[in-house]
Amino acid sequence: MPGIILIGAQWGDEGKGKATDLIGTKVDYVARFNGGNNAGHTVVVGNESYALHLLPSGIINPHVTPVIGNGVVVDPEVLFQEIEGLESRGVDCSKLLVSSEAHVIAPYHRTLDKVTERFLGKHKIGTTGRGIGPAYADKINRVGIRIHDLFNAEHLRNKVEASLHQKNQMLVKLYNRREIDIDETVEDLLKYGEKLKPYVANTSLVLNQALDAGKTVLFEGGQATMLDIDHGTYPFVTSSNPTAGGACTGTGVGPTKISRVIGVVKAYTTRVGEGPFPTELFDESGEWLRQQGHEFGVTTGRPRRCGWFDAVVARYATQVNGLTDFVLTKLDVLTGLDSIPVCVAYDVTTTDGQTQRVSEMPVDQSEFTSATPVYEQMPGWKEDISTVHSFDELPQATQNYVHRLEEISGCRISAIGTGPQRDHIIEVHSLTD
Ligand code: GDP
Ligand code: IMO
Ligand code: MG
Repeated sequence: MPGIILIGAQWGDEGKGKATDLIGTKVDYVARFNGGNNAGHTVVVGNESYALHLLPSGIINPHVTPVIGNGVVVDPEVLFQEIEGLESRGVDCSKLLVSSEAHVIAPYHRTLDKVTERFLGKHKIGTTGRGIGPAYADKINRVGIRIHDLFNAEHLRNKVEASLHQKNQMLVKLYNRREIDIDETVEDLLKYGEKLKPYVANTSLVLNQALDAGKTVLFEGGQATMLDIDHGTYPFVTSSNPTAGGACTGTGVGPTKISRVIGVVKAYTTRVGEGPFPTELFDESGEWLRQQGHEFGVTTGRPRRCGWFDAVVARYATQVNGLTDFVLTKLDVLTGLDSIPVCVAYDVTTTDGQTQRVSEMPVDQSEFTSATPVYEQMPGWKEDISTVHSFDELPQATQNYVHRLEEISGCRISAIGTGPQRDHIIEVHSLTD
């Protein structure tokens, strides 16, 4: 009956797509539970590279049933573009199941995302501009549109009217933009309703029945712990719960069905968008990591901000997600360095102006924003590790680096990524047994 949750342990782009693909060979269902097409998950199979935004990465494995859970926000236009793109490359998407309760990203959510970011000016979040925040805001404000609303014209019109009533006033009076046409919006959404029908299901029931029948379900998170609306670096976060708890609310599966919680963590750190990032590098080392690691966004193409591994963040991720395992990715990227700094604590300035050394995540955001990393230096290695398939064959310095990360992050490392390909992986402990 194993339910396995897989989440990002840092600020996203840790390699969740690749880790999902790895575990996907041994599971029956892969369910996305949060976010939408703000995600960009890469799966590389031979010469083919797939960038998944909304669809679960498990869709690349033919025996997997891919599921979009109720906690996801679905842009139907993007969904069909993605399905068509994959099918034209020979990937079968016919088994996809979409929750009838998932909320819809309508074109006006995308408009509002861009307009509000512009309006925020220097306070902007640096969102992906995909309408994620406005769609979740409507969900919480109880004026959202759900997938099953797209099947009934009259019902949908009422909902769109209720949702646009206030937004149109804001667009015209505050943002000096044109009003959004209700009829056009309804017509557009209804068209997608028809196309969506074959995929729509009671996904909570499907997943629970599957788990009860002894099948394995992998819950694939979008975004990451530090982008969580509750546990991340608020307000520089996304609008959903990418942490482990989100897998339950975002699919309608209870926590007693979960047996593993896997955190994907990079051997260094990256972040896209605005917000605090204590180990960020502004010198040539940051540029070196960006080039070595090809750190450019899958969704927006933005260069990712780069920095050293932050064990305070990793420990925090272990704690808030109840992690049982880490998948450590991109270890190969660090090859060639003489020595590798690892952040083990922060020096923070408290509200009364004192400097204090802390080894746990500060609850006060201003302390986190002012945090200066305290580094420990680990010896580097020069050998190519991309062809190594067992832990014991790794250079001693690489083994020591992994062991040290394990020690200071509070959770065992069960797999190690040594390159982007499927077989660029060292499995130290099984992730599914
Ligand atoms: P996700 O959003 O967490 O799925 O991660 P992304 O796909 O946005 O970014 C991770 C990038 O790193 C992708 O280009 C992957 O192909 C690549 N990648 C994943 N694991 C490894 C690894 O172990 N080594 C290297 N060099 N690249 C990796
Ligand atoms: P994956 O799943 C990295 C960031 C955006 C921005 C903030 C809010 O590929 O790891 P949003 O559009 O969600 O309202 O933007 O969150 N962000 C991500 N950063 N990886 C992602 O997804 C992200 N999804 C959102 O850059 O800072
Ligand atoms: Mg990504």
